[in-house]
Amino acid sequence: MSQATLSQQPLAFDLLDPQAARNPHPLYHALREKQPVHWSPQLQGWVLTRHADISQALKAPRLVAGPMTMQFERIPEEERKQLTPLRDSVAMWMGHTTHEGHLRFQALLKRYFTPRTVEDFRPRIQALTDSLLDAAAAKGTIDLVQELAIPLPSMVIAEMLGVPLTDEHMLQKWSRDLAAIFSTADVKQLHQSQKSVTEMMDYMRGVLSKYRRSPDSGNILEVFLRAQDEGLVSEEEILANCVLLLFAGHETTARLISRGMALLFDHPEQLALLRQDPSLIPQGVEEMLRYGDIAAMITRLATAQVELDGNEIQPYQMVYLMLAAANRDPAIFPEPDKFDVTRKPGKHVAFGYGSFYCLGAALARLEAHVFFETLLRRFPQVRPAKGTTATWQQRSLLTEDLITLPVEL
Ligand code: HEM
Repeated sequence: MSQATLSQQPLAFDLLDPQAARNPHPLYHALREKQPVHWSPQLQGWVLTRHADISQALKAPRLVAGPMTMQFERIPEEERKQLTPLRDSVAMWMGHTTHEGHLRFQALLKRYFTPRTVEDFRPRIQALTDSLLDAAAAKGTIDLVQELAIPLPSMVIAEMLGVPLTDEHMLQKWSRDLAAIFSTADVKQLHQSQKSVTEMMDYMRGVLSKYRRSPDSGNILEVFLRAQDEGLVSEEEILANCVLLLFAGHETTARLISRGMALLFDHPEQLALLRQDPSLIPQGVEEMLRYGDIAAMITRLATAQVELDGNEIQPYQMVYLMLAAANRDPAIFPEPDKFDVTRKPGKHVAFGYGSFYCLGAALARLEAHVFFETLLRRFPQVRPAKGTTATWQQRSLLTEDLITLPVEL
């Protein structure tokens, strides 16, 4: 977009600065104060940092969740064509399909993910947590990311979708490859994502047909199959949405557990509070969600002109909603840069807001509650392993992922 059509004074903010990825909050505070609805020439999109604007954008019907990132649109057309299967598959995800399709999947799935329904999974989540912790205890020193935070949510969602636990490690790899679609325009990596999505769908096709022959009550696949029999959904839609659930079900929850633990190590007085009074754990998890940049950013594409804080967002422009910035907005959260597990839970947007609000929020919360309660009860002395440091790596815009967190139990 040319500067001439901009309704605002251009201000320079470096959103690609690697230093800012390490700690984006000084940049977010500056943006929020100086230009909360900012046109970024680097991203060729609008960047929102205020809680109020992000909440408004999440409710705006003209801002839709696109199937791929804007980077994808910038790939040369010939190469983009080769990635059509990937794009088509992701376009069937419940949040990316038509409004009607979205409502159809919500109607099918919502009741399986209410706080009351996911509570039925507590004994299984507890048993899986215990078995992972038993294996960890036998070693003494472990990498919390690879050995606890990633496997737990991955095993839980695999079980919910009828995937045998022996195959769950394949899902982890496929999901990791798939994550690239949200952050990269690297064609080689996107081809790898495409290969993994295809393999994942083929794998789920097998699970589905096995399940059709011998149903096992209570499984989400049963809901999907009934809907297919009633002509409400196609097999391809089912498979694409199984991939979505398997992917969404573990990436972010693993971040909540691993970043949550790293935050507690960085704030030993807060760790001590949770250890002394485990009834604070649910509140502590909400604070990890607010403070910990768990789902740091989501994007929207304008389908028509939208006015936001005096700026005109044009059709086909991309909007970056910095959830991590909204969660530190001083207009909503007093002392926003303070990590305080006794903070009264407020209106954080870590799970989004409005009609695309995270389907798995209650499940993610339950997993984190069980995990931290069990870990601190069984291993009250848990601490960073001596002589080691956590490793972080930038994988997407303005955020670093925790890759390893060595701990002693
Ligand atoms: C801490 C963990 C999690 C976080 C921070 C998180 C975050 C989010 C966010 C921000 C959205 C909104 C996306 C948008 O508006 O574009 C979302 C949507 C979604 N999440 Fe989660 N999520 C988590 C765990 C899960 C789990 C465990 C599941 C598995 C069941 C899940 C399934 C979904 C689905 C299916 C959607 C799309 C909902 C729709 O389109 O109506 N999430 N999540």
